[in-house]
Amino acid sequence: MPTFYEFFAGGGLVSAALTPQWSCLFANDVNPVKALSYSANFESHCFVEGDMRGITLDELPGHPELVWASFPCQDLSVAGPKAGISGKRSGLVWPFLDIVMNMAKQGRRVPFIILENVVGTLTSNNGKDYAALLEAIVNLGYRVAPFEINASLFVPQSRPRLFIVCFAAELEFPQGMLLDDPTELFVSKAILKADEVLSDHTREHRVWLGLPPPVVRTTTLSDILEPDDAVTWKDDHFTVSLLNSMSASHAAHVKAAILSGGRKIGTVFRRTRMTKDRGREVRAEVRFDGIAGCLRTPSGGSSKQLVLVIENGDVKSRFMTPRECARLMGLSESYRLPSNDTAALHITGDGVVVPVVQHLVQHCVEPLLTSLHRRDEGNRPTASSRQ
Ligand SMILES: C[S@@+](CC[C@H](N)C(=O)[O-])C[C@H]1O[C@@H](n2cnc3c(N)ncnc32)[C@H](O)[C@@H]1O
Repeated sequence: MPTFYEFFAGGGLVSAALTPQWSCLFANDVNPVKALSYSANFESHCFVEGDMRGITLDELPGHPELVWASFPCQDLSVAGPKAGISGKRSGLVWPFLDIVMNMAKQGRRVPFIILENVVGTLTSNNGKDYAALLEAIVNLGYRVAPFEINASLFVPQSRPRLFIVCFAAELEFPQGMLLDDPTELFVSKAILKADEVLSDHTREHRVWLGLPPPVVRTTTLSDILEPDDAVTWKDDHFTVSLLNSMSASHAAHVKAAILSGGRKIGTVFRRTRMTKDRGREVRAEVRFDGIAGCLRTPSGGSSKQLVLVIENGDVKSRFMTPRECARLMGLSESYRLPSNDTAALHITGDGVVVPVVQHLVQHCVEPLLTSLHRRDEGNRPTASSRQ
């Protein structure tokens, strides 16, 4: 069975995606609440709680085929202050790469690495942060394939994310996997623009891969919602002030939904904006396109997503429940969420979407595993001798 490490593991959404077909040898996160969630759902013996900068090579068991790192996004996210890839939090990618390098020096070179972060990584510092990151990975002896994938292809949530799949340079791609030109579906204009900033050396090791589209999604927003009588609705006063805080164009969407009759489901985020006179105002933004907005980490009431239901001219609203958020992340009903709602929303808002992980690993990593194992026969420990 192939094995993996999950750095910045949060609630273990990569483990949720890959096990039991893959075996997790090591997972780490600094956050104690996330550590509890990981242990409630997966084998806790592989989880090490603590700052990843303190991890020693002795704590890293075996020789994994894949190392996943969804490193912190705060310094790269459009919403946050933009310290960029040298920021205190997103800059944790550098000690992560040091660990990979030191494992290689010990004869434990990792064949596949996947990095995930927000698409703001591509534009941070005018593309220079992305270029620096790719150059560092290439200098460690990897070829890199970037993808921008919106989770809405898999689940009813808009969640565009950058994935950088890294292949040890000596690996041979099966015939047909390498493309001369990028595919439009997963290589966005932002990736192409950021590509222009890469050094010639880095670009020589950047590859375009053929990633097939997923099976057409059939799960809709209404499929993931609880029945109306199983949830707590906000009072009319709340809903009226929510509607009043919409701009004219968003209010017009609501009006059109009322006039069209029947049942319409929308999702709403409230954003706090600076006004011209340097005050603050809350604006509610609604969407009725059948998908939820991108789940965020709760750092105040405004980052919680609301559900708006319009039926026979009646408008009611409520917060999305943690279980609904978990479904939007592609987690199964058996995934145990923390009983505290805010903790549960941290797990989902910070996470990577489960079927996106599966799609990438199935199409970018697994096709190369057979040849990897054939080549390494005799050199690598077998699954039973690891631990
Ligand atoms: C973007 S989230 C990744 C979540 C995870 N991939 C998932 O899908 O649930 C980044 C994670 O990095 C963790 N983190 C932040 N600083 C860390 C550090 N110094 N050492 C280890 N983990 C850290 C955070 O607690 C957070 O869970």
